[in-house]
Amino acid sequence: MKTILVTGGAGFIGSNFVNFLYNKYIDYKIIVLDALTYAGDIENLPMNINVGQNNRFSFWYGNVRNGELVDTLVSQSNIVVHFAAETHVTRSIYDNFLFFETDVLGTQTVANAVLKHKDRIERFIHISTSEVYGTAGSELMDEDHPLMPMSPYASAKAGADRLVYSYWATYQLPVVIVRPFNNYGPRQHLEKVVPRFVTSAILNEKLRVHGDGMSKRDFVYVEDNCEAIDMIMHAPPEKVIGEVFNVGFGEDQTILSIAEDVSRIMNYDRKNITYIGNRPGQVMRHTANISKINRVLGWKPKTSWEDGLKKTIDWYQKNRQCWEKQLWMREIPIISVAGKRELH
Ligand SMILES: NC(=O)c1ccc[n+]([C@@H]2O[C@H](COP(=O)([O-])OP(=O)(O)OC[C@H]3O[C@@H](n4cnc5c(N)ncnc54)[C@H](O)[C@@H]3O)[C@@H](O)[C@H]2O)c1
Repeated sequence: MKTILVTGGAGFIGSNFVNFLYNKYIDYKIIVLDALTYAGDIENLPMNINVGQNNRFSFWYGNVRNGELVDTLVSQSNIVVHFAAETHVTRSIYDNFLFFETDVLGTQTVANAVLKHKDRIERFIHISTSEVYGTAGSELMDEDHPLMPMSPYASAKAGADRLVYSYWATYQLPVVIVRPFNNYGPRQHLEKVVPRFVTSAILNEKLRVHGDGMSKRDFVYVEDNCEAIDMIMHAPPEKVIGEVFNVGFGEDQTILSIAEDVSRIMNYDRKNITYIGNRPGQVMRHTANISKINRVLGWKPKTSWEDGLKKTIDWYQKNRQCWEKQLWMREIPIISVAGKRELH
């Protein structure tokens, strides 16, 4: 029986990952540490997990900055998967204090606990992000693409990413760094673009696109990302330790085309798409090169954009009670590129 510590397991990707692990490995014990910030929700954890009364699962409410708590939980674990972070780019433009505290210092706290319990930790998987790269400087972005973070969120994550790398280089911790590109799927917070468009269409509202909508992102379905992390978790150490892996789809699409696809699938009038000012520090294009993870582990995404989007729309249509409570947190006042204060 292995014990897996998942930080940030009540958030979007973390909860999908916990669900994935819980269903796939009946002999694993999962410990979730989550501070239940505005982005985390205990109800994101699968309903079949009887929180508090289950020898396969335990939930700890707490901060990854709490050294003693993190140390206690790491001391009981064999594998650490570190998702906990402040994650919204726009919010980091508005107020970035917590981003550096949680994303950088929180990662340092987790890394220090792994160092202390080096003898029992088999793998420390750090969930970084493609945002660390900034705008694509080549057709496809591989793991050697320069790190040119464009927002405070991205720079905090870049700090954490390199911090974890340094713990491998200095202390030979069994580190793997994962750089997922944009994820989408069930349980994502409404502040993020796909659920934002989908729920706006459900609520008969405008779909508001930043700038001219021509910035491009690479979207990978969350379950495919969970499968990649699972493969990284179980790969022979010599294949993955000290390595960085992109997880993406390998194709980009414009934000405008996402609004159009949502409108088409939901039969919502395309005339509801409107434009607002561009977000400062905007990444113009992200397109993943996923050949490394494909070559080393045989992973490739299984879910097409069309299928993933349909599944996502279906979830938001059927689970209104899960996201309605987030409506008040959708908009953040920032100064756009044109110097105008706007709600983004
Ligand atoms: N969503 C994406 O498209 C995407 C893409 C690439 C990388 N990532 C990375 O994946 C990870 C998870 O992203 P997500 O979209 O699920 O984020 P999320 O915002 O949905 O969830 C973050 C979780 O972390 C928890 N958390 C925040 N601060 C904490 C703290 N101080 N202590 C303990 N828990 C804390 C929150 O309560 C929440 O449950 C993050 O590290 C993010 O940078 C996300």
